[in-house]
Amino acid sequence: MKKILLKKEYVYLGNLILVNRKHPLQEKIKSYNLQPFNELYTKILLDYNANLELHKVLNEINSKNNIVPVSGYRSLDEQEELYRNSIKENGEEFTKKYVAYPNCSEHQTGLAIDLGLAQENIDYIRPSFPYTGICEAFRKKSVESGFIERYKKEKENITHISSEEWHFRYVGYPHSKIMSEMNFCLEEYIDYLRKFKLGQNTLSFKEYEINFVKMNEDIKEISIEDNEVLTISGNNVDGVIITKISNLSQRKGK
Ligand code: DAL
Ligand code: ZN
Repeated sequence: MKKILLKKEYVYLGNLILVNRKHPLQEKIKSYNLQPFNELYTKILLDYNANLELHKVLNEINSKNNIVPVSGYRSLDEQEELYRNSIKENGEEFTKKYVAYPNCSEHQTGLAIDLGLAQENIDYIRPSFPYTGICEAFRKKSVESGFIERYKKEKENITHISSEEWHFRYVGYPHSKIMSEMNFCLEEYIDYLRKFKLGQNTLSFKEYEINFVKMNEDIKEISIEDNEVLTISGNNVDGVIITKISNLSQRKGK
């Protein structure tokens, strides 16, 4: 057995953080590893792992340049400017539907990407990304590589953002797959995971074991087996999610 120390700040970091109006980003805790999308789009930045997985999917579906990145990481200043300009140009009703309030945007994490079908004029706020053809192929395949379509029509009453067919959020595998199979949006999934308190109950999915640890203290110690591989992500609310891979050989064959 080995011991791992979980720190309170872990709540606000990682692939599973829930960022919305109710749960703004904790700007004081930044740990981004941002990379340009590629050499053609050097100003569109994305979290290193998210970018790697994104390119894997684009290659798998042979997208060539039919799918283009429209917006990736945004600083707080950029999100503020986008919000302000949209209010001026599109009015308050539209803006609240399609632009997250500053500090409440997933784009500020580097884990979100807006994608568009390549065409001459691409709308920056609402690019076209239909449920057909290459875009739909991306939607299906990306679930296997850790992405979710974040704002679905049927979840508008929970996310409070209108349907955004173009906005993908990296949460990591297997979470993307579980969310897709159970038809959960991120708000619902984060709630659901609280049922699986470490030491009491486990969410098992293929070779993965997922648990929740509530962080009501500054530091918490957990014990794991010596050969266990795990990832830790906060939920940006009240705890951390531990994802263990119990059988490495199966993962390789995925
Ligand atoms: N368009 C999404 C909601 C954002 O601004 O983060
Ligand atoms: Zn977006």
